[in-house]
Amino acid sequence: MPRIDETPTPALVLDLDILESNIAAMTAWAKQHGIGLRPHAKTHKCATISQRQLEAGALGLCCTKVGEAEALAAAGIARIAITAPVLTPARIRRLMDLNRQIELTAVVDEMGNADDLAAAAEAAGKPLKVLIDVDVGTHRTGVTSAATAVTLAALIDGRQGLELGGLQGYAGHVQHVQDYRIRKIRTERDLQVLAEARDALRQAGFEVAVISGGGTGSHRIDAGMGLLTEVQVGSYVFCDVDYDVVDLTGDGSRPYRNSLFVDLTVISANHPGFATVDGGYKNFATDGPVPEVTTGAPAGTSYRFFGDHFGRLEFADTYHQANSGERVRCIVSHCDPTINLYDSYTCVRGDEVVEHWPIEGRGRGD
Ligand SMILES: Cc1ncc(COP(=O)(O)O)c(C=O)c1O
Repeated sequence: MPRIDETPTPALVLDLDILESNIAAMTAWAKQHGIGLRPHAKTHKCATISQRQLEAGALGLCCTKVGEAEALAAAGIARIAITAPVLTPARIRRLMDLNRQIELTAVVDEMGNADDLAAAAEAAGKPLKVLIDVDVGTHRTGVTSAATAVTLAALIDGRQGLELGGLQGYAGHVQHVQDYRIRKIRTERDLQVLAEARDALRQAGFEVAVISGGGTGSHRIDAGMGLLTEVQVGSYVFCDVDYDVVDLTGDGSRPYRNSLFVDLTVISANHPGFATVDGGYKNFATDGPVPEVTTGAPAGTSYRFFGDHFGRLEFADTYHQANSGERVRCIVSHCDPTINLYDSYTCVRGDEVVEHWPIEGRGRGD
């Protein structure tokens, strides 16, 4: 097996020991707290990681888009929930094809769409399981009141093509609130509408078997509330710079560690104090903080974007002279959009490259 420092850069490097430790830590935590895990595959878009999560006891995976779900289903993942509404006749047809092949759950947040899904599922001859998506304050998707959830449940209940699975409420706006106490206050306040929807549905005689939501930022708080039956944690498998500043546990402990990196090479070092590396806007997500240099350069080295294909290492010691050919490892800024820039993970154990895992869902925003 080649050593990682012999492989070309930029490389998306996944440390398997740390990935496995993150999956094991989340599994043990969920078991201990009696809550289901339905990890979000938008984070990794990878069938091999999905399979590892399923083998560890996940109930299934989540995907955001039909295309992402198609890619994972084609690679053998057979239990998927699509967490955003699916509209347009062509996409709904693809959804029905998927529903024939795998155990699928979809979400709805409006009558017209529920009607369209019901008609398509009736024509396809297999009911589609749906969760009613509730807007818990992110204002991205979801019904905005318990009363609307009840009306929608009645429509779903009256259609042969649909099966009411329960509710979804994802509080995306709280996940990265850094302070645990503030995140807890906001999560508990904002999930009240989901609790109201659950109570209203039950009062109206509907079963609410599943309440799905939450993410890496809120999962500990969600479990404490006892409202969600499963959490859609995504980023915990990798932990990026974005999440490193979030106190996930309230006591400062770090159960999940950085497993995902981009390795780069210094391609020009003709000045003291800084050097140019071979990775820029096309190699990292740019919506979050900058990548963090973790190894290969003196402590205190920072990374700055320096063009599509380039970055600039800035050394704390302005007299430091780097050499071309030196390699650095960076913790990815925001994991989800970063992995979408690569075809595969270069998987390492220590310094050895042990496998390459395809990112089947890469680019599948369709
Ligand atoms: C609907 C939904 N659920 C869960 C997640 C996972 O969140 P995280 O990566 O913070 O764990 C996301 C991420 O954006 C999401 O959109």
